[in-house]
Amino acid sequence: MNISGKVIVITGGAQGLGLEMALFLAERGANLALIDLDEDKLARAVDLCGPATRDNNAEARFYLANVADEDQVASVFEQIVFDFGTLHGLINNAGITRDSLLLKTRDGVVEKRMSLSQWQSVIDVNLTGVFLCGREAATKMVETGTEGVIINIASISKAGNVGQTNYSAAKAGVESMAVTWAKELARYGIRTAAIAPGFIETDMVASMKPEVLEMMTGQIPLRRMGKPAHIAQTVGFILQNDYISGRTIEVDAGLRI
Ligand code: CAA
Repeated sequence: MNISGKVIVITGGAQGLGLEMALFLAERGANLALIDLDEDKLARAVDLCGPATRDNNAEARFYLANVADEDQVASVFEQIVFDFGTLHGLINNAGITRDSLLLKTRDGVVEKRMSLSQWQSVIDVNLTGVFLCGREAATKMVETGTEGVIINIASISKAGNVGQTNYSAAKAGVESMAVTWAKELARYGIRTAAIAPGFIETDMVASMKPEVLEMMTGQIPLRRMGKPAHIAQTVGFILQNDYISGRTIEVDAGLRI
């Protein structure tokens, strides 16, 4: 796919990895639909994309929606196709963490457990949100007769990470959804893939307990965290390479958790 002139949706596009992807794709002439929950941050993200699109006539718009809400997802994709006329790509990037050990003990007594709300909130956004947006994007691509690409942002945590029962389960799920959709949607000219970032310099990673973050990053063979630009570049690579489908690209500098 040639990125220039294409219409790409990025969930969680107002900040962090999503914003970096938006800037990367805007510079290359993509029209962007950024979905997120915070109107101020979304407006700022669209403003930041402005200079990048000055020379290529691309457009960036923002849309307020909760990816975990079926009705909101349906109406936001309806609106995006109304505004841009079509849809060529979706980056399923929106995600949250609610880290907790499954259970924590003191002197043999269980004193704390991951709550159902910690489990459910992460599953709602990181797993159900990917399902809903992927289903809606594929529907619009088929209905408008457009060949497209769907990228699910997984994580190194898909392998199972201490403190992330909820997040690890969701990220393993979004990876397998990318494989399933690659098989089901190829007949419509839709490719799907996943990216599994390792520890990248974002607010999400910065919010980890310092001692745990130090322990994790100390195990990275390259001895440094990744930059959001490393993930944005990988998005660009998958969009452009028409023979990638049903696979995950791991961008983690060789770390195994
Ligand atoms: N590996 C092995 N042991 C670990 C561990 C790890 N990664 N993390 C914690 N532990 C151990 C601790 O050493 C501690 O052991 P002891 O009881 O023997 O001392 C025990 O687990 C309890 O840990 P805490 O004292 O930290 O427990 P807590 O209840 O205060 O906090 C926690 C639990 C919130 C899960 C905290 O450990 C934590 O934040 N862990 C990091 C979770 C993580 O990696 N999150 C990634 C966020 S970034 C992200 O998700 C983006 C991405 O895609 C990678």
